[in-house]
Amino acid sequence: MTELISQTELICPTCRLALAAADRAFACESGHSYDLAREGYINLITGKAPSALQGDNAEMVRARRAFLGRGHYRPLAEAVAEAVTGMSMQVLADFGCGEGYYLDQLMNTPGLKGVRVYGTDISKPAIAAAAKAYPLTQWVVADTNRLIPLADGSVDAAIDVFAPRNAAEFGRVIRPGGRLVVAIPGPAHLADISERFGLIGIQNDKPAKISSQLNEFDLLDTKRVEDEILLDTSSLRDLLEMTPNARHLSEQARAEVERLSETRTHIEFDVLSFGRR
Ligand SMILES: C[S@@+](CC[C@H](N)C(=O)[O-])C[C@H]1O[C@@H](n2cnc3c(N)ncnc32)[C@H](O)[C@@H]1O
Ligand SMILES: [Zn+2]
Repeated sequence: MTELISQTELICPTCRLALAAADRAFACESGHSYDLAREGYINLITGKAPSALQGDNAEMVRARRAFLGRGHYRPLAEAVAEAVTGMSMQVLADFGCGEGYYLDQLMNTPGLKGVRVYGTDISKPAIAAAAKAYPLTQWVVADTNRLIPLADGSVDAAIDVFAPRNAAEFGRVIRPGGRLVVAIPGPAHLADISERFGLIGIQNDKPAKISSQLNEFDLLDTKRVEDEILLDTSSLRDLLEMTPNARHLSEQARAEVERLSETRTHIEFDVLSFGRR
């Protein structure tokens, strides 16, 4: 029997009992146990494994880390941080966290010391990269569309940045009075680059539609974040490679990327703050 060290907000994806941290594993009282991977994350997807196309692959993760690491989307990270801070919280989560940039930025904001933090994503390469870089957060492989493996009402605040949303699961895990911050691309986000390179995969959900889907939440505030950014060749290449576009780019478009030494582009995001009723 594994020795259980401390209780967590995590739940067992098999029987839904609480998971406690054990030595290099998490386990529930029914005896289901999930080993920590070498990098320190856990995989809580059970049953049918997700298809390789469902989450970001290793190359997309590398490109996203390189792109975000250069600070191109820092204004968005700041707006997300502003939207979740200022409330008292013990548990913070990021659903579809990718390689961890936004949670890391959040953890650098004052007042969040001692908060327990969970990042979930369906992509193993993304979660592995996050765990390697930011060991203070518990990173979890999980499918937002199936089960967010956190206990009912255990989350005080959560963020979702350009990632799938599941209204029922968000409503279940976020406590009444808790906060959900959803970031989506605005209508003119990367419009110039999109047109030039025929980009695909930028969601164009409207805030009103998201609001109506999140039926256990009230929209408290919407903030538009806009900026003009300057991309060098490698940033532009990474921007195209961090989305599913890399596979669809024409030879001509690839050649154009390499030819451009600098590109100015418009970025635009909507940050929606919801309160759980
Ligand atoms: C556009 S990326 C955004 C990543 C991160 N939030 C960021 O902005 O850097 C979308 C993320 O959603 C993840 N994802 C896709 N389907 C998912 C699902 N069903 N459950 C959880 N994550 C999913 C992808 O693996 C990817 O990391
Ligand atoms: Zn169990």
